[in-house]
Amino acid sequence: MLGFAKKAKTPGDTQPTGPRHVAIIMDGNGRWAKKKHLPRALGHKKGVEVVREIVRHAGKTGLEALSLYAFSSENWKRPEDEISDLMGLLRAFIKSDLDEFAANDVRLKIIGNYRALAPDIVDLIDNAIARTAHNSRTTLAVALNYGSQDELVRAATAAAAEGAITAEGIEAHLDTADLPPLDLLIRTSGEQRLSNFMLWQAAYAELWFTDTLWPDFTPAEFDTALAEFGKRERRYGGR
Ligand code: FPP
Repeated sequence: MLGFAKKAKTPGDTQPTGPRHVAIIMDGNGRWAKKKHLPRALGHKKGVEVVREIVRHAGKTGLEALSLYAFSSENWKRPEDEISDLMGLLRAFIKSDLDEFAANDVRLKIIGNYRALAPDIVDLIDNAIARTAHNSRTTLAVALNYGSQDELVRAATAAAAEGAITAEGIEAHLDTADLPPLDLLIRTSGEQRLSNFMLWQAAYAELWFTDTLWPDFTPAEFDTALAEFGKRERRYGGR
């Protein structure tokens, strides 16, 4: 545990002060590569190395869920060779890191319509999900072919089919329905927007932005974000 001591609000109340669920919009791979006069693909490759470090680190902080925006439904507009590089990295990542997830009690979950990816990737993912399904320390939710507006349309449609569109009904059909509420949303690279990521889930999340490009993001900076979260006063519309 990385020091999120339980802070008692009232005697017997052991609510942790650290976030339960953190999401990250990992941005800036392209700019990192450009700054170093490297091909974009190497920016994404370094980005995956950072993903690995942050997943390892997140497990040590006691976080219940880490959600990562890896490929949006809009990313299909990118040049074919870049899409192919990203898919290649995804394949390699699942193959190389699955044993480590399994050993470290990490459950892999995908949000978004990953079934539209190449059949071999779908198989790799299905196998990884099945193999880690009973792990319970941390859930790693990777967003693939994910768009929050699409997720909301699907959730509202499913809620309507059950008779009524209510907030609880929509929430129950979000891709994230089995995750704790989103506490903290981090975006790297200086951009300050949600880019169709977790629009519903971010309703009461704390937002934290850094100019650091994703390939330069470190576990220490992740801890800085968590410490900042610890200082925020969350009011959920109350006072
Ligand atoms: C943004 O950088 C990043 C992405 C579009 C993809 C994020 C993907 C990874 C970190 C690697 C794949 C992840 C896994 C889990 C295998 P950008 O290309 O938009 O950067 P730019 O805005 O500087 O051009």
